[in-house]
Amino acid sequence: MPLARSLSITSLSGLEEWDEEFDLEDAVLFEIAWEVANKVGGIYTVIQTKARLTAEEWGENYFLVGPYVESNVRTQVELIEPTNPALKRAIDKMNSSGCKVYFGRWLIEGSPYVVLIDVAFTAWNLDKWKKELWDNFSIGVPWFDREANDAVLFGFLTAWLLGEYAAQCEEPPHILAHFHEWLAGLGLALCRQRQLPVATIFTTHATLLGRYLCAGSVDFYNNLADFNVDKEAGDRQIYHRYCLERTAARCAHVFTTVSQITAVEAEHLLKRKPDIITPNGLNVKKFSAMHEFQNLHAQSKNRIQEFIRGHFYGHLDFNLDKCLFLFIAGRYEFSNKGADIFLEALARLNYLLRVNHSDVTVVAFFIMPARTNNFNVETLKGQAVRKQLWDTAQTVKERFGKKLYESLLVGQLPDVSKMLSKDDFTMMKRAIFATQRQCQPPICTHNMLEDSNDPILTCIRRIGLFNSSADRVKVIFHPEFLSSTSPLLPMDYEEFVRGCHLGVFPSYYEPWGYTPAECTVMGIPSISTNLSGFGCFMEEHIADPSAYGIYILDRRYRGVDESCNQLTSYLFQFCQQSRRARIIQRNRTERLSDLLDWRYLGRYYISARHMALAKAFPDTYFYQPHDSDTAQGFRYPRPASVPPSPSLSRHSSPRQSEAEEDDDRYDEDAEAEKDRLNIRQPLTLPSKKGLPLVSNLGYLWSVI
Ligand code: UDP
Ligand code: G6P
Ligand code: GLC
Repeated sequence: MPLARSLSITSLSGLEEWDEEFDLEDAVLFEIAWEVANKVGGIYTVIQTKARLTAEEWGENYFLVGPYVESNVRTQVELIEPTNPALKRAIDKMNSSGCKVYFGRWLIEGSPYVVLIDVAFTAWNLDKWKKELWDNFSIGVPWFDREANDAVLFGFLTAWLLGEYAAQCEEPPHILAHFHEWLAGLGLALCRQRQLPVATIFTTHATLLGRYLCAGSVDFYNNLADFNVDKEAGDRQIYHRYCLERTAARCAHVFTTVSQITAVEAEHLLKRKPDIITPNGLNVKKFSAMHEFQNLHAQSKNRIQEFIRGHFYGHLDFNLDKCLFLFIAGRYEFSNKGADIFLEALARLNYLLRVNHSDVTVVAFFIMPARTNNFNVETLKGQAVRKQLWDTAQTVKERFGKKLYESLLVGQLPDVSKMLSKDDFTMMKRAIFATQRQCQPPICTHNMLEDSNDPILTCIRRIGLFNSSADRVKVIFHPEFLSSTSPLLPMDYEEFVRGCHLGVFPSYYEPWGYTPAECTVMGIPSISTNLSGFGCFMEEHIADPSAYGIYILDRRYRGVDESCNQLTSYLFQFCQQSRRARIIQRNRTERLSDLLDWRYLGRYYISARHMALAKAFPDTYFYQPHDSDTAQGFRYPRPASVPPSPSLSRHSSPRQSEAEEDDDRYDEDAEAEKDRLNIRQPLTLPSKKGLPLVSNLGYLWSVI
């Protein structure tokens, strides 16, 4: 009989490497999610960014399991023969029994193995499996719910794969299967019901009921304990999905959620308290030069400015150098993501900037996928006009240059009045005429299928932010995820984020929220809330988040209007910062990236796995719970080099010009180093918010 092994983890008081011993021996890890090599939202980011670390730990014994989607496979996966003999036999057996299961390497960092299952190919089994689901779990799935049908097929197929793999192993295997989200949850329940030798983990990234209830007009957090969950799920026609989710959560050896706030939610709505919280990390890339990310900001900003030149052609009556780019991005859930209060705050900000005669212009991007039928003509025309102006300028420049050269060749200074010909003027006039425009620059870049009911467009119509000349706040709604192959804004999401000044994510429902986390590791300040997993995590680990460019909006203890005022106040103060203050703030923001690195946060996943192995195979594994299983203990102090909040930071010497301000960055690198050393001391300071809180509009007016 194998000896029991123990796990020991050093304290989490710093971000030092995690020292642990846990012999995984012959254990094999399967990680199962609908978003494996299949981008839908944040779960894809979890799996994709974590892959390298997990592959390093588990090597050849790590397999991700997801759905086969041809378009994704063509671009992201290299199909190969299965490397593990037992797995090869299992896949061959399934394929000879009417399934289509593929094996390959996912071409991302860590190059993990993937097993991809074509669920549609096995749809002939759906009725049989639904009956089995009813007989064994009393869960009935209606025929019209396509997503739930996929969940049934995917669940039965993954359980089949794990059962077949166990059967093909020569020695009794130690299988660990980590299932993400309700769509993958049925596989877990079936493993338990069939008593397979599998240690199971279920991670919920959001509860179904939470998402649905918050999207309505329910006071969610004040009534969490009182919901009649079955009735609420039934009323929203998601009872069967809810049952699948709850079954997975209840059956798992180890149940985890991505944040404390979702842990409380799960306890009430899924009726199980998570065993451990597994916060989401990122794959942080460090640049050798500290200012490198600042250069990337400048490069990406130039590209966004190019887009703006085209989008606002004929109305470019604002100074692009004084233009700030704000954005919100993610799943299109209007109120859950806080797009509602962001728009409202933008309208208020517009007013404040106007009455203050501010020379700052704000362009707010909304990147949220909605149903469209492609880009609209006016938006495409904008980029075409910009290109035409550019080409005209290049042609004239070349002719001008040639004449200049010829004149210098014969030893004469050019006659400036003859440098441009009549033709040149005609061409330039034609190009200028092309920039005449009867309409305002468009709000939306695409033709929306549900234009009249779209919540963002409806709200914009109500608040009247129409990109008019007088508006200091302009809005651009891009209802599609960004792509470097777009004819309109050819940038991928990461480049775009780098080029912006502030990410605004005032979510009401957000179990974690990758978007502000991604901003942080790229050194871009962001606004999140104390109802988002990320916001709470940062509040817990940083003494003065706003000093680091992490603004956390209070949506927990304030009404909507008050939160909206607070958001307006953050935005207005952000707009008042000098370029130098923004550069300093970005340096500080970027310094927090270690906290969000999987190298640090991956340890909670490791604990969850060890916990599950010890529960499922108590004769082989032993797990000793300890304090560090909760993400507590570390706290970033306030930066030593700063006054209480960046927005309040003032020049110590008389006002410099913007150009001079740029040069201060290198001094800031020295300051950054000072802060870095300071951060290394595991201090615990009381939490402070640096910015004054606004309780009503009266405050705002008093700022004017
Ligand atoms: N995202 C993207 N392209 C875009 C906009 C967003 O890939 O144009 C990604 C972003 O990188 C993030 C994810 O979408 O990882 C959104 O995740 P989040 O956890 O913030 O919210 P979710 O949409 O899953 O609720
Ligand atoms: C980075 C670049 C600077 C540039 C600045 C613009 O720091 O290294 O050269 O001036 O970004 O900052 P802003 O906040 O105005 O986009
Ligand atoms: C879900 C949540 C989001 C979280 C993501 C990854 O999509 O809505 O808040 O960041 O999962 O865990």
